[in-house]
Amino acid sequence: MPVSRTLILNSGASIPTVGLGVFQSQVGDETYHAVRSALKLGYRHVDTAQIYGNEADVGRAVADSGLQRSEVFVTTKLWRAEWGAARAREAIDSSLRKLGMAYVDLLLLHCPGDPDLRAETWAVLEEAVKKGQAKSIGVSNFGIPHLERLMKSATITPAVNQIELSPFNQRVDVVQHCQSQGIALQAYSPLAKASKLGDPRVVALAAKRGITPAQLLIRWSLQKGFIPLPKSVNPERQATNLDVFGFELSLEDVVELDKLEEGLVTGWDPILNDPV
Ligand code: A2P
Repeated sequence: MPVSRTLILNSGASIPTVGLGVFQSQVGDETYHAVRSALKLGYRHVDTAQIYGNEADVGRAVADSGLQRSEVFVTTKLWRAEWGAARAREAIDSSLRKLGMAYVDLLLLHCPGDPDLRAETWAVLEEAVKKGQAKSIGVSNFGIPHLERLMKSATITPAVNQIELSPFNQRVDVVQHCQSQGIALQAYSPLAKASKLGDPRVVALAAKRGITPAQLLIRWSLQKGFIPLPKSVNPERQATNLDVFGFELSLEDVVELDKLEEGLVTGWDPILNDPV
């Protein structure tokens, strides 16, 4: 199944289908060099968040890359401590200052957070679109009930729901719901944080195709229609993670990978744990 290097979001914006994740890229030089090297290698999509603490490093790397701002798709996420209209407005301004950018391509609610403040916080994201501070807005770590509640007050449908997705954690119900609503799925931890790259079933399938286990998992994500965000601070690994457009997995390979579901959560699980 062929996959595209870009997708069009429900906002009309184009998004590169493989992005660089910088969660747990250390603040300072590590993130700066990771983003510089990724952009040199051809990445055009970087995914950060306020809580990662590395927005300034991402911004500096984009600025120093020699690329036009419009050539790089940059996402950040509003942390749950910033919920509420006044705080959210300030936090968005602060993110843009740290990034050194007039706008982000995508601004997300990082998790469902406080249900009493969620609707007004989402309204501030909608306001950010009108002000030109965000080209697209979306959510992260939202389950179906969170999405349904949000849509009672929202005037803009989230462009994306960014959730943990890998063959080991497929969230089929959330995926189907989002796809039926025109909400794109971004896959964080598509490599299950490297915890499954030695799994014999993954190793065997990758060997059969002559690719690496990481490429196998990223390609699975792409063939599902997701937007994977593999994190790597290492240029060689970054390069192989982006080199996923020159081969295809067969339907049988995808079905084999689908069998690896085990509900693996490598970090937190707001889909399950955040109140509706
Ligand atoms: P590093 O940053 O040193 O490359 P995920 O994207 O699922 O959260 O996984 C991130 C983890 O996987 C990091 O520990 C990262 O380490 C590692 N990683 C990223 N790409 C590869 C790769 N191609 N091969 C092996 N490990 C990788």
